[in-house]
Amino acid sequence: MPLVSMRQLLDEAAKGGYGVGAFNVNDMEQIQAIMAAAKETKSPVIVQASRGARQFAEDLYLFKLIQAAAELNPEIPIAMHQDHGNSFETCKSAIELGYTSVMMDGSLKEDGKTPSTFEENVAVTKRVVDYAHERGVTVEGEIGVLGGVEDGHGAGGSGLDHITDPDQAVEFAEKTGVDALAIAIGTSHGAYKFTKKPDGSVLKMDVLIAIHKRLPNTHLVMHGSSSVPKDLQDVVNQYGGKLKETWGVPVEEIQLGIRNGVRKINVDTDNRLAMTGAIRKVLWETPEKFDPRDYMKPAREAMKKVVALRMVQFGQAGHAGDYAPISIEQIAKGYKDGTLSTQPLVAAK
Ligand code: 13P
Repeated sequence: MPLVSMRQLLDEAAKGGYGVGAFNVNDMEQIQAIMAAAKETKSPVIVQASRGARQFAEDLYLFKLIQAAAELNPEIPIAMHQDHGNSFETCKSAIELGYTSVMMDGSLKEDGKTPSTFEENVAVTKRVVDYAHERGVTVEGEIGVLGGVEDGHGAGGSGLDHITDPDQAVEFAEKTGVDALAIAIGTSHGAYKFTKKPDGSVLKMDVLIAIHKRLPNTHLVMHGSSSVPKDLQDVVNQYGGKLKETWGVPVEEIQLGIRNGVRKINVDTDNRLAMTGAIRKVLWETPEKFDPRDYMKPAREAMKKVVALRMVQFGQAGHAGDYAPISIEQIAKGYKDGTLSTQPLVAAK
C-alpha cells in the first residue's frame, strides 16, 4: 500500500471513535518494531520524524526505510509525518521527499525555543496549509505551547506554562484550515513530566473537552503522551541507569481524550526507555558481547511490545483493513473543491 494521507487515517479514526498512535523513529530497528506491532495488532499507524531524526538518519535513508515498510506491509495504512516542523522550509522539504503529513509548529519561532505571537503562528501555519493541501498533504498545527524539550525543540518549562485558550484554538483553526490541532493541556515532552501521578486537576481535560465541542471536525493531537511506566524505568535503573523517579500521562487520561476528539497520540519516550532498558540488560549481563545484533534485537522486541500495547489501548488495533487508501492526488482534489476543507472525509461518530 502506498503511504496514506494522515487526514484519511484520522477521519477514519473519528468515524470509528478511536485514536491512532504516532510513533517517532530515527532508525531501521524502530521502524521495524512499529511495523511488527502494527502487523500483529492489525493497526493503521502514523510514523513520525522530528528534524533531529531527519538529521541523525539523513533524510533519504529514513524515507527509503519508510517506503520499504510500506512495501513490505501492504495491508497496513501508514502515514509519514514530519513532527514539529519549525518553518515553512522544513515542511516543504518533507513534502518534497514524499511525507504525507507535516506539523507546522508555529507556536514557537523558527529557533524552536521562543514562543511566537498568535499572528505569527497563524501566518506561517496558513502558508504551510496552502502549500501542503495543494499537494494532498495533511497539516497539523499547534496552539498553546507544550512543555519540555524534544530533540532540541521546545520552550522548556512545565506543560502548564502556556495552556491553550479555547477561543484562540477556534480562531486559529478557522484562520489556518489545519486538519489536526495540537493543544497544550499540561503534557510535556520527555521522561520528566510530573513529580507525582497526575489526576484530573493536573491535566486540563476540561480545556480539551471545551475545544472539541467547538471544533468537532478538527482532529485533536496529544503530544507528550508517553506514560513513562514504572516497569520500563525499573529495567533501565536495574542495569546501571540513573533515572529519577517520574510520572507520565496515564493511559486512562489518553482514553478520556480519545472519547473527546483526540485522534493522534504522540509517543516517543516510552519507546526510548524500552530500547535502552533492553540494551542495558544485555550489556550488563553479558559484557563479553559486542555484536550489535545481540542487543538491537531485544531492543527492537522491547519497543514492539510497548507499541503493540499502545495500539490496543488507543483502539486502533483491528482497523487496518477497514478502508482502501484514497490517492494523495484525490485528496488534493478534495482540498481544492472544498469537500475536505471543513468536513472530514467521513462523518464523526
Ligand atoms: P513523549 O516524550 O511523551 O513520548 O512525547 C513525544 C511527542 O510528543 C513527540 O512530538
